[in-house]
Amino acid sequence: MTKILMVCLGNICRSPLAEGILRSKLPLDNFLVDSAGTANYHVGDRPDSRSIAVAKKFGLDISNLRGRQFNMNDFDTFDYIFVMDESNYNNVISLARSDKDIAKVKFILNEVYPNQNYSIPDPYYGGNSGFENVYKMLDEACSLIADRLT
Ligand code: 4NP
Repeated sequence: MTKILMVCLGNICRSPLAEGILRSKLPLDNFLVDSAGTANYHVGDRPDSRSIAVAKKFGLDISNLRGRQFNMNDFDTFDYIFVMDESNYNNVISLARSDKDIAKVKFILNEVYPNQNYSIPDPYYGGNSGFENVYKMLDEACSLIADRLT
């Protein structure tokens, strides 16, 4: 079983979308996909209504996901930890205990633009178009991740 974790700040906008999108592209008998936030603001919350809506527009139901906070044990559980932006990267790395932990953490857009460390912009304070933009960026990255791992 290959285990992949998507991480953003709140675990209600970007990483639940990334979780739903990647899950839809992988055979789930061999892969586990989860998501978490570096902050604890939205623990137990369902995804932002705008993320649920854009996922639905593209045929995915993410309404059953619930927010949780990233923790150190996730380094043991997961093989790959994909972060959305540099702040997420720094927050996750601050909890790493070893070079092995650090090596698991990747910028998700480096799948599309290797070594550039580009960010998936936080859509929380913007409008619906920001969520559709995020969806499309994540869909491209997740297609490449799924191709590489299958
Ligand atoms: P996310 O977006 O990190 O993509 O889930 C955010 C959601 C909530 C907040 C910030 C970003 N917040 O400050 O509550």
